Amino acid sequence: MRICIVGAGYVGLATGVMFGKLGHDVVCADIDEARVEIVSAGKLPFHEPPLEKELSRLVKKGTLHATTDLSKSVKDSKFVFICVQTPSLPSGRIDVRPVKTASRTVAKALARSDDFKVVVMKSTVVPSTTDSVVKPILEKFSRKKAGKDFGLCMNPEFLQEGSALKDSMEPSRIVVGFEDDRSGDMLEALYRPIKAPKIRTDLRSAEMIKYAANVFLATKISYANEIANMCVRFGIDSEPVLKAAGLDPRIGSLFLKPGLGFGGSCLPKDVKALRDKARAEKYDSKLLASLLSINDRQPLEGIRLLEGEIGELAGKRIAVLGLAFKGGVDDIRETRALPLVIELLARRARVVAFDPMAMDSFIRLMPSIEYADSAPEALKSADGCIVQADWPEFRKLGKKEFSRMRHAAVVDGRRCLDPEHVRRSGATYLAIGYGLAPKKK
Ligand code: UDX
Repeated sequence: MRICIVGAGYVGLATGVMFGKLGHDVVCADIDEARVEIVSAGKLPFHEPPLEKELSRLVKKGTLHATTDLSKSVKDSKFVFICVQTPSLPSGRIDVRPVKTASRTVAKALARSDDFKVVVMKSTVVPSTTDSVVKPILEKFSRKKAGKDFGLCMNPEFLQEGSALKDSMEPSRIVVGFEDDRSGDMLEALYRPIKAPKIRTDLRSAEMIKYAANVFLATKISYANEIANMCVRFGIDSEPVLKAAGLDPRIGSLFLKPGLGFGGSCLPKDVKALRDKARAEKYDSKLLASLLSINDRQPLEGIRLLEGEIGELAGKRIAVLGLAFKGGVDDIRETRALPLVIELLARRARVVAFDPMAMDSFIRLMPSIEYADSAPEALKSADGCIVQADWPEFRKLGKKEFSRMRHAAVVDGRRCLDPEHVRRSGATYLAIGYGLAPKKK
């Protein structure tokens, strides 16, 4: 079957490769010519090696290709997945303009088609967007009726960056939101080879499921951060505390790692978008507001630990290791490295930064700080170090590297280092949820 993917971003390309692997013919359409060229060469515009390997195989085989010609791609396909970005506006509201533009082009192509096609919304949109924004555009510009002349579904995506292919092929659940049974049945049948619970529901519930999931993940992280911050002040290491809490199956051990806060393209954006949507319905969510304020405070927590050890930061050289929003990716969207560096500069620290993959994008954001070519080089003569992203290679840093520092104070902002490894080098190890014992009165 021919499947059209609108938007060659993370979600679009992971979805396209997944359907390609299931044996379908996939065309990925994007307005960005440079991106289309990259995908046509069997490459990805971001760092995700297993997905890239599979994409390259499908492109060589000729069963996946990329184009800027969305109209033709829609006309030739049975399913059209809308996977365009929905970035945050300053208020937190999502910007649905890319969804509207894509819907208009899809609709015009529907107008010229005779067969029954199913349009599937995969972009993350707040409840009611599919039926109150997408559907009217599709109907107006195609002069056809949803549910009768074409199908309309909402099918949220739950993949994590760094494991996009695995998460697409082995999802924990597949949500099939639909208005008419025919489209729901068709979408469910398309996903039949994937073994996962299938949740059939209406369009709005499908949209809300995505937010309910991401808000809960953000809640777990902020809960872990709050417990960790209190532990430090009580002279307790939060690690066994959170480990024991997580062993209760009602709590669960995943996503309980304290750190400098959650970043990335989804969690911060989705919490803000849901808060904005709730406000529009005259509901002021206290939980969502708290999640965001706890998250905003976390980079300061790392700085507080460092100041507790080395004193005022003015004039001191501070190494920031890891600029991506998490280790293993080259994405800096909503990275906590940005507020961290801004706060360090506000304290007149001299910042030297390093990241294995995300340095080029961070330099564009913040050209004025110093950048090192490697983690050991960043540590050279530093007065302190804060680890912001959990890159596996940082775990290998030891005596040789940490002893290059002037004052060896290391703040593990992601609980990803081996404390013994750090201590053996003579450095002081501090972490979110692990501070120095409070002074005896
Ligand atoms: C997230 C969701 O996990 C995924 O289901 C959704 O589809 C998209 O958003 P992703 O953006 O790839 O995925 O990042 P994720 O791995 O969830 O991490 C988000 C942030 O939370 C990172 O900054 C990470 O460092 C932080 N985090 C994660 C913690 O601080 N502690 C944890 O225990 C887990």
